[in-house]
Amino acid sequence: VQRKRFIGGNWKSNNTLAKSLELVDSVVNKLEFDNLDVVVSPVSLHIVPVQQAIKNNVQLALQNIGHKGYGAFTGELSFEHVKDLKINWVILGHSERRRTPEISESEEFIANKAVLAINNGLSVIFCIGETIQEMEAQETQTVLEKQLNPLIAQVKDWSKVVIAYEPVWAIGTGKTATPEYAEQIHANIRKLLPDQSIRILYGGSVTKDNAAVLIGQPNIDGFLVGGASLKEDFIHIVNACK
Ligand code: G3H
Repeated sequence: VQRKRFIGGNWKSNNTLAKSLELVDSVVNKLEFDNLDVVVSPVSLHIVPVQQAIKNNVQLALQNIGHKGYGAFTGELSFEHVKDLKINWVILGHSERRRTPEISESEEFIANKAVLAINNGLSVIFCIGETIQEMEAQETQTVLEKQLNPLIAQVKDWSKVVIAYEPVWAIGTGKTATPEYAEQIHANIRKLLPDQSIRILYGGSVTKDNAAVLIGQPNIDGFLVGGASLKEDFIHIVNACK
């Protein structure tokens, strides 16, 4: 099965507006590719000016979405807001939302938001991953299944889903998973999914130096990049996936 590679840049809660726009000029608009999906995700408040500044086929993702449509939900963004602006992608289930104690989004809540988004025509980057303690206790597979099961139970249109495997211990730590470890986990995840064409991304300290060997693994279909997406390195990472 041929899977179109996917490279996401998650800018997280960073940057002044001026910095985000500078990043569009110096990195995003320098990207040249076809036959790849490249998606960047600025903080939601910057998404419109960033969208207006993008001059190529790079797409946009929101970093989170509300659990309902339009309505009396102070502080929430609905799928309608996203669709209205012709933004196609939403990141859901990032460990920074699952595992930050003050946020603690539950498996059910995340999966429900994903299904709502998908059923309303959006595409979802659905993040899963184990902590160091869970890995050491050999609970990785159990944890990943727990995170994925509520999604698998409800999704009908899998063409709108990309899975991002991001071991929590690799995020922002410089401790990238080895290509062998990542490949093994991706292969295990693939067995749980109903369709061979679903893309599985790796995330966690992806750099311009380790991107090529990681993308060489048969079950790694792309990346969700954090820190390295905030600099020129992102261009090298995208080029490594061409
Ligand atoms: O969403 C991106 C991931 O959390 C990876 O972040 O590349 O800074 O480790 P990182």
